[in-house]
Amino acid sequence: VNRLLVDHAHCELKAAANALSLAARHARDVDLALALTDLAREEIAHFQRVLGALAARGLSCGPPPEDGYAAALRQFAAKLPRSPHASPLVDRLLIGALIEARSCERFKLLADAIGDDGPHGDLRALWKEFFASEAQHYGTFVDLAVRAAAGDRPWTIARLEELARIEAQIVSKLGLEDRGRSRATVHG
Ligand SMILES: [Fe+2]
Ligand SMILES: [Fe+2]
Repeated sequence: VNRLLVDHAHCELKAAANALSLAARHARDVDLALALTDLAREEIAHFQRVLGALAARGLSCGPPPEDGYAAALRQFAAKLPRSPHASPLVDRLLIGALIEARSCERFKLLADAIGDDGPHGDLRALWKEFFASEAQHYGTFVDLAVRAAAGDRPWTIARLEELARIEAQIVSKLGLEDRGRSRATVHG
């Protein structure tokens, strides 16, 4: 649990930083910038909550670990064929959606794995709350991607599925490289 908390703190901060850098790059699009900065604010709040949980255990957060996952996904996305609405922004938003979906799944597993009255009962409530908010973040990223793809939802969902197939390959490869370290490679 301790290692997971330390790793997770960085995931939250990375999610906030990613949303902020996208917002900065597309600040001319006011709705997009507002949605992304709202999301960043929530991720920063998550980071602070995790720091609190760490402090309550007398732990602190070291420097961030290397994370090949998001970078690998972006590299692959750049090589995908250019179809009608494809743009770097759409792909970044869809990758954001995938990362949120994974972290959502992860919190569900974590919340289910922790009993209410064990030593980490406090974390159960936290994971459940994060689960709900990551599910919302997923929806936000998908909606923003549809919007960036000229409102073409079927095309956007097909692109998301294409990226998800690539993601599955990356995750299984990282899983092999990371063997024994049990580090989460995805954001929360
Ligand atoms: Fe999130
Ligand atoms: Fe989060």
